[in-house]
Amino acid sequence: MELPFAESWKIKMVEPIRKSTREEREQWIREAHYNVFQLRSEQVYIDCITDSGTGAMSDRQWAAMMLGDESYAGAKSFFHLKEVINRLTGFEYVIPTHQGRAAENVLFSHLVKEGDIVPGNSHFDTTKGHIESRKATALDCTIDEAKDTQLELPFKGNVDPAKLEKALAEHAEHIPFIIVTITNNTAGGQPVSMQNLREVRAIADRYGKRVVLDSARFAENAYFIKTREEGYADKSIKEIVAEMFSLADGMTMSAKKDGIVNMGGFIATRHEDWYEGAKRFCIPFEGYLTYGGMNGRDMEALAVGLDENTEFDNLDTRIRQVQYLAARLDEFGIPYQRPAGGHAIFVDASKILTNVPKEEFPAQTLTIELYLEAGIRGCEIGYILADRDPVTRENRFGGLDLLRLCVPRRVYTNNHMDVIAVALKNVFDRRNDITRGVRIAWEAELMRHFTVTLERV
Ligand code: F0G
Repeated sequence: MELPFAESWKIKMVEPIRKSTREEREQWIREAHYNVFQLRSEQVYIDCITDSGTGAMSDRQWAAMMLGDESYAGAKSFFHLKEVINRLTGFEYVIPTHQGRAAENVLFSHLVKEGDIVPGNSHFDTTKGHIESRKATALDCTIDEAKDTQLELPFKGNVDPAKLEKALAEHAEHIPFIIVTITNNTAGGQPVSMQNLREVRAIADRYGKRVVLDSARFAENAYFIKTREEGYADKSIKEIVAEMFSLADGMTMSAKKDGIVNMGGFIATRHEDWYEGAKRFCIPFEGYLTYGGMNGRDMEALAVGLDENTEFDNLDTRIRQVQYLAARLDEFGIPYQRPAGGHAIFVDASKILTNVPKEEFPAQTLTIELYLEAGIRGCEIGYILADRDPVTRENRFGGLDLLRLCVPRRVYTNNHMDVIAVALKNVFDRRNDITRGVRIAWEAELMRHFTVTLERV
């Protein structure tokens, strides 16, 4: 008999979690103004709000922390981290930052000017925010198929080369660079193929433009290339990673995802002029160049995390858990962005809460219902997150309206996945009785979903 699959690690330390009653949750979510970001973590049983900074570090990472060199300048830990990044990506210049959005802030301060256009594939909200706050435009060139949640495509995060080509043909002089997000978080944790990265490179070269990879989940992207793209089955994850970055000019990184640290990020590039330009903003915003917002100990943990998480077994354990949750949802007929993404399942709220009008935010409503059902905290990646159009100030209802259930790395077991699936099924079974959603009582102008306050309609 073939042996079943099991995790490539065992557990050395645990953190107790607590269930609650529905009455408690009713009160807590009301006090949180129906915004799950305003819940306290003790009010949550299983936390799927993000996979960012919520992973479990390995014993090797914890051990590395003891070697942290906290020198203000020239710390050994910086050079350890830089060496690993050089080796994995081929990028010579490295600037640490406190997290991914800080990397965006520092690099875009150098590169993005008012009136610019930055084409890409479903820019993440902080990426979009850092472009739009500079009075520039984030132009989404994702393939149209990504919008059909039921379509099974191996690389649903891809850039549409025709859309990108058109953007460059029409606006080349206003385009400072192209940004490709791997994996494409907003489209459902969907990967980008090597073939697509090659196409983007070719188009960029034709117009003399550079390419940035938003690399928060680059290792998961490499796993999908290995397991789905022809010609890569026998390549190691590290070989695939090196090839991906060979097609780019630089990267912004939120190390809280595929670096498996709780906080951290960086910029890396092969171009001295980008490094010199970004340097000027790192010092005032983040800190001196050899720490830029990170502790020495965290840089040590990140160096190990990057190395470990570019090994196949670790990624295989992780992605299979997400696929396990997806298989449970399939059993219950619950629609989500297909196929299952790398870090999360994106449940298609607009196909479930069909009686809730879009003006009342179906995905946010589903997020609230799932929390009430079992204390599970997902988050809306939908109409609230999409913010208003910066020009018309209208809500943007053009995209998908999803409930994202993130799976933190090396944290929960498949028993937890079962609880999530059944809780969602219970909500799904009473979906037709849910007819009203929420209305916005207060919102910030930009990135409103973190602080928005809502009222039940
Ligand atoms: N880029 C992508 C693709 C991301 O998913 C994130 C963060 C960032 C950049 C910004 O990085 O949080 O370190 O500043 N995503 C988290 C999430 C917050 O929940 O998806 P950060």
